[in-house]
Amino acid sequence: MSMVVPARPKIEATVENAVFVVDDVHLSFGGIVALNALTFSVTKGELCAVIGPNGAGKSSLFNVISGVYKPSHGSVRYRGEEILGRAPHQIAALGVGRTFQNLAVVPAMTVLDNVLLGGHLRYRGPLTVLGGVLRLRGEVKAERRLRTDAHELLERIGLAHLAGEEVSSLSYGWQKRVEIARAMMSKPSLLLVDEPAGGLTQDEVHELGALLRGVRDEFELTMLLVEHHMGLVTSFADRCVVMSAGALIADGRPAEVVRDPVVVAAYLGEDD
Ligand SMILES: Nc1ncnc2c1ncn2[C@@H]1O[C@H](COP(=O)(O)OP(=O)(O)OP(=O)(O)O)[C@@H](O)[C@H]1O
Ligand SMILES: [Mg+2]
Repeated sequence: MSMVVPARPKIEATVENAVFVVDDVHLSFGGIVALNALTFSVTKGELCAVIGPNGAGKSSLFNVISGVYKPSHGSVRYRGEEILGRAPHQIAALGVGRTFQNLAVVPAMTVLDNVLLGGHLRYRGPLTVLGGVLRLRGEVKAERRLRTDAHELLERIGLAHLAGEEVSSLSYGWQKRVEIARAMMSKPSLLLVDEPAGGLTQDEVHELGALLRGVRDEFELTMLLVEHHMGLVTSFADRCVVMSAGALIADGRPAEVVRDPVVVAAYLGEDD
């Protein structure tokens, strides 16, 4: 029986080592169960990949963490605080940033302005009017600080040369980077990245993986990465949890987890 030997002991959700705890979360849409008693925890600073076949519940998990979906049962704690039941902007204010599976950039705006939008969330809660600028006098200084932060991030994410370009003119991979830079503007300590590698070439995937790891190191983030690109997961994640039908079916070192027969079986019948 060739079960994968856990690469390391299962991480227990103790106060000392778990910065982020998902505990017995249930979420359904009518008759469809998206998350089924989902339980796991993440250690501070970990870059943890979340993989699983289409419909496994990965994006639903992100939507629960960021307050978009309300589960019927369970608990999600970040740095000891319960985040279920809070509004998305309150969860963002606790330091949880995210990107979306479907690009959530504003195509008709420049790269710089898209990134600035992420900073405005930092001061104002949810945006109601896109393109809103900080008009009040007292906010001029804040605006200047945001611009400095935005330019620094554009430099760090490799987007500085595109700052004035309209986002619609960029390839998918670059647009994804804009989303990452925008999420970083809220100064998150936990970053959720949903499928950043779709449509990228092999070289671009490698660059993206190095970028995500570098950003994790430099900004001391904890990162959850949903990704179908196994090369990205095995080369750059510290740990990999596997979801199927809304529950966790494996947890361990990426290179070992992806060979786990239970995981392989869960993917059978998948197109990719
Ligand atoms: N807003 C919604 N309304 C109804 N059903 C939903 C909704 N969001 C997710 N689901 C359902 O919940 C299940 C999990 O979907 P989810 O998008 O979380 O999967 P996923 O693992 O992210 O898949 P993929 O790899 O295709 O992105 C699916 O059956 C999906 O159809
Ligand atoms: Mg998804």
